[in-house]
Amino acid sequence: MSAKPLGVGLLGLGTVGSAVARAFADRSRRIDAAAGRPLTLVAAAVRDLKRPRDAGDVPVTTDPHAILDDPDIAIVVEVMGGTDPAGELVLGSFERRKHVVTANKELVAKEWNAVHEAARLAKRELRFEAAVAAAVPVIAGMRGLGAVRPRVLRGLLNGTTTYICSRMETGKSFDEALAEATAAGYAEADPTNDVDGHDAAYKLAILISILEGRHFHPDHVRRATLRGIAASELTGAAARGARIRYLAVADFGDRATKARVGPEEVSAESLEGQATGPTNVITLEGDLVSRLVWSGPGAGGDATASAILGDVIAIARSGT
Ligand SMILES: NC(=O)c1ccc[n+]([C@@H]2O[C@H](COP(=O)([O-])OP(=O)(O)OC[C@H]3O[C@@H](n4cnc5c(N)ncnc54)[C@H](OP(=O)(O)O)[C@@H]3O)[C@@H](O)[C@H]2O)c1
Repeated sequence: MSAKPLGVGLLGLGTVGSAVARAFADRSRRIDAAAGRPLTLVAAAVRDLKRPRDAGDVPVTTDPHAILDDPDIAIVVEVMGGTDPAGELVLGSFERRKHVVTANKELVAKEWNAVHEAARLAKRELRFEAAVAAAVPVIAGMRGLGAVRPRVLRGLLNGTTTYICSRMETGKSFDEALAEATAAGYAEADPTNDVDGHDAAYKLAILISILEGRHFHPDHVRRATLRGIAASELTGAAARGARIRYLAVADFGDRATKARVGPEEVSAESLEGQATGPTNVITLEGDLVSRLVWSGPGAGGDATASAILGDVIAIARSGT
C-alpha cells in the first residue's frame, strides 16, 4: 500500500456528512485497503459549531473556504445541499485543483454543464453516485451502458412519497400520512421538494443526462404533485390489486425524450408496488439489454455514505 495519505474534507456534517465521518472513524482499515492507500478525514465545515453531532472527532470549522484552501485536502465531499453556496464551493474546489464528490442532486441536475466543464478544465474528477438512489450504484451501472439505446426508464426515486402512498392505502388522509412521514424522519420540515416532485425530477434528469451523454434540465421533467391525491384513489387501487406510487418515467422516443414524475398506478406484485419506504427501484428497458433492474436503500445517512465513500475510494485508486 502506498504510504502517502490522501486528505478528504467535508462541506457539511449533517445526516450524510456525519455518517461519512463515522465511517472514517469506524472502518478506516477497510476503506484504506479498498483505496490501496491511507485516506484521512482532515476537517468538516458546518454552520453551527454548537450543534451536537455523532460524527467522530473530526475538526470542524464554520468557514467552508478553509476546506478549499487546505493543502492537505485533495478530495472535497460536498454534503451541504442546495445550490447556494454549494455551487460556488464546488466550482472553487475545482479552481484549487481538488476532486469533488457530491450527494447534491439539485446542484448536479441544474448545473450539469458548469460543474462538468469546471472538472474538465481542472483535470479533476467529479463524482456523484450518492445523488441518485443513495446506496444503489445506479449511476455506475448506467455509465456502463454507453452502447445501449434506452427505450424506457422507470423509477421509484423518492422514499418520502412511497411512504406517504403506502400509508394512504390504509385509509389515512394525505395530511395524516405526511405528518407520519415527518415523525418517522422521512420527510423534511418543508416537504415541498419531495411531495411536489422536485427531488424525483432532479434524480430523473441526472439519469437521463447520463444515458444521453448531455444535459437534460430538470425543468423539462413534467411534474405532478402528490398533494391533491385522495385516500379513496389509493384504497380504490388497492381493492383492484393495484398500488399508486410516485413514479419517475422517461420515454426515449425517436425525437425528444419525454420525462414525467407523479402518482401512477402499478401492479401490487411489482417491486414498485411492494416498496413502502426508502427502497428505490429503477428499471431500464433498452436494446441489447432487454430489461435491467436496480433496487435498494435510496436514502439515509449510512446508505448515502456508502456511495460517497465508493466514489472517494475510486478517486484514490485512480492514483491522483
Ligand atoms: N439525507 C439523505 O438521506 C440523503 C440521501 C441522498 C442524498 N442526500 C443529499 O446530501 C446532501 C446533504 O443532505 P443531509 O440530509 O445530510 O442534509 P443536512 O442534514 O441538512 O446537513 C447539511 C449540512 O450542511 C451544513 N451547512 C449548510 N449550509 C452551510 C453553510 N452555508 N456553511 C457551512 N455549512 C453549511 C449544515 O451545518 P449545521 O449542521 O451546522 O447546520 C449541515 O451540517 C443534500 O444535497 C441531500 O440532497 C441526502
